[in-house]
Amino acid sequence: MQEQFNNVKQSAIIDLENVSSMREINDLKVKYVGKSGLVTSLLRTMKDIAPEMRSTFGKMVNDLKEEVLSLFAQKETLLKEKELKERFEREKIDVTLPGKSQTIGSLHPLNIVKNKILNAFCGMGFEIFEGPEIDTDYYCFQALNIPKDHPARDMQDTFYFTENILLRPHTSPGQVRTMENKKPPIKILSPGKVYRADDDASHSPMFHQIEGLVVDKGVSLCDLKGLLDEFVKIMFDDDTKTRFRPSFFPFTEPSVEVDVTCCKCHGKGCSLCKGTGWIEILGAGIVNKNVLEMSGIDSNEYSGLAFGLGVERITMIKYGISDIRTLFENNVKFLKQFNRR
Ligand code: PHE
Repeated sequence: MQEQFNNVKQSAIIDLENVSSMREINDLKVKYVGKSGLVTSLLRTMKDIAPEMRSTFGKMVNDLKEEVLSLFAQKETLLKEKELKERFEREKIDVTLPGKSQTIGSLHPLNIVKNKILNAFCGMGFEIFEGPEIDTDYYCFQALNIPKDHPARDMQDTFYFTENILLRPHTSPGQVRTMENKKPPIKILSPGKVYRADDDASHSPMFHQIEGLVVDKGVSLCDLKGLLDEFVKIMFDDDTKTRFRPSFFPFTEPSVEVDVTCCKCHGKGCSLCKGTGWIEILGAGIVNKNVLEMSGIDSNEYSGLAFGLGVERITMIKYGISDIRTLFENNVKFLKQFNRR
């Protein structure tokens, strides 16, 4: 009997020696200690054992089972260590390999500049009002003192859907919509997209404007000058100066074009300012009395100032961009330059 026990143990030792994976160990477990395994089936021979020997026999079988299980456990530990070692070898990380860099998005230069402009004026107490991009002939022209068929329409005349409905060619209708809905004092900015049938290196059929309007008692050209002087210092450099040149817009009287000292050469003359030292940045003026009256504001009591600036133009001046089309081509290499983390 003892020999039979030894044989089983010996056979387990030999079997385990040839094992090289956890799967094989599990198979061996079935072979030895499974339901009909070699050790378990020894118990079944109990009936052939003399009754007084049975408890000794049972104990011997259990001891054998424990011995075999501990042999398995030893082998399992060895195997696990070996497998782990192999895995470490296989999955070794080369820390000298360059990492994968994450590219993050950034604001478009037009948005950077738009936000800067809005912030500058909001810091001076302006509120923001956005009007519709599709607007009527009345708001785009008539209420701005440009009657139907008036030659002054040539300056902005553009894309019509019907005789009376069009893509707004400027943000000035924002002035009218505000004055109709708000009592003075008024201090608003109206930013947005505008559309004109123009397409070359300095004009795009869609571009962005920001309209400014102040209506209050005693608003004058001095206020306009002071306001814009402050704005250009925030937008460009502390030493930037403005210059007003007489101009014409049907909705302002007097009207001016506003120039700033060139931000590149500071007024000395360079290629950006075409040698003049000055760059034109916006159109402005004192709100025409007709416009105030048409929007229900008493022009004897109140006066207003208005200005309209092009976001593309300011962006191009600020960053030295010579072709407006680069702002709309979505070339990532170009846009990345403005990614200031
Ligand atoms: N609306 C004018 C334009 O698009 C700009 C402007 C706005 C001029 C307000 C004067 C006052 O050219």
